[in-house]
Amino acid sequence: MRDTAPTAARLLAWYDRHARVMPWRIGPAERAAGVRPDPYRVWLSEVMLQQTTVAAVRDYFRRFIDRWPDIAALAAARDEDVMAEWAGLGYYARARNLLKCARAVVARGGFPDTAESLRHLPGIGPYTAAAIAAIAFDEAATVVDGNVERVVARLFAVQIPLPQAKQDLTHLAAGLTPATRPGDFAQAMMDLGATICTPKSPACGICPLLDDCAARAGGVAAVLPVRAPKAVKPTRRGTVWALRTPQGWVVERRPGHGLLGGMTGFPGDGWDGSPGGVAPAAAPWRDAGEIRHTFTHFHLILRVMVAEADLAPLRGSVDPGLTASSLPTVMRKAHALATAALEARP
Ligand code: ADE
Repeated sequence: MRDTAPTAARLLAWYDRHARVMPWRIGPAERAAGVRPDPYRVWLSEVMLQQTTVAAVRDYFRRFIDRWPDIAALAAARDEDVMAEWAGLGYYARARNLLKCARAVVARGGFPDTAESLRHLPGIGPYTAAAIAAIAFDEAATVVDGNVERVVARLFAVQIPLPQAKQDLTHLAAGLTPATRPGDFAQAMMDLGATICTPKSPACGICPLLDDCAARAGGVAAVLPVRAPKAVKPTRRGTVWALRTPQGWVVERRPGHGLLGGMTGFPGDGWDGSPGGVAPAAAPWRDAGEIRHTFTHFHLILRVMVAEADLAPLRGSVDPGLTASSLPTVMRKAHALATAALEARP
């Protein structure tokens, strides 16, 4: 295997000049001056960034830090407040595990400081454990997210398709990871993948690793990594019942597990294609139309039934303070359609 130390050094020199500024990040200059990252912020950001872009996470991160500035504050939060603050970020199991993890960390007296022990906490998989260990504790852990996979696949011109190539890519990334500044190195790989070594039309001309890159030499950078074809997502259909009373919308909290677990929404059927389900009240229902939303494993077409009436529902309860921002995205869409339907014909 070739000597990879110069590659890591070139990447770190590039990061020193071009690191992206992020609200959870200690930049390379501060880091060099001895500022230590707060493991709470590193952990919170990494959990938020699982399956979600930096752009989408920024504001959520700031709101969480304003409201719960440390792990003890978050551990003491009410579940429903955390779920409402998370609403819109998606993958709600992350928020449920976030709380479990916060409470476990407080119970044990602080974050463990190795990838191996972080791995045992709720919601922390191999990627997140390695990222926290590297960024917060300077462990030379191998951090491999989608950006890093792409950078490594190109650097070494790996032709094996993903996800099959994962192990090989992890092994190659481990060989690149330096003993010093592993946290900066991990974030430099992510930044390179996000800004230069992008999925389409990589900006090879300005890449600090231009001379290290086997894909560039072979003229195949833009077509790597190879990916196995994705399974086609099925489409499911369902119905929700949006009832507005003088006191507010009728909503219910979903069970604490499974899709949208623990989140608030309009009562509905099982979204399994069976007809309509049972309305939460005998009201003058009207059809407001359909909304579409895509989850990880299926597309959903949801019929929104709407009514305005002054009655007590059989299912759910009235939430006088309901705001769209505390709803998951699919329910925000239903809320918008139901509101528009009532406003068009009160
Ligand atoms: N994606 C996940 N974690 C990240 C980080 N620390 N910096 C940039 N992008 C990321």
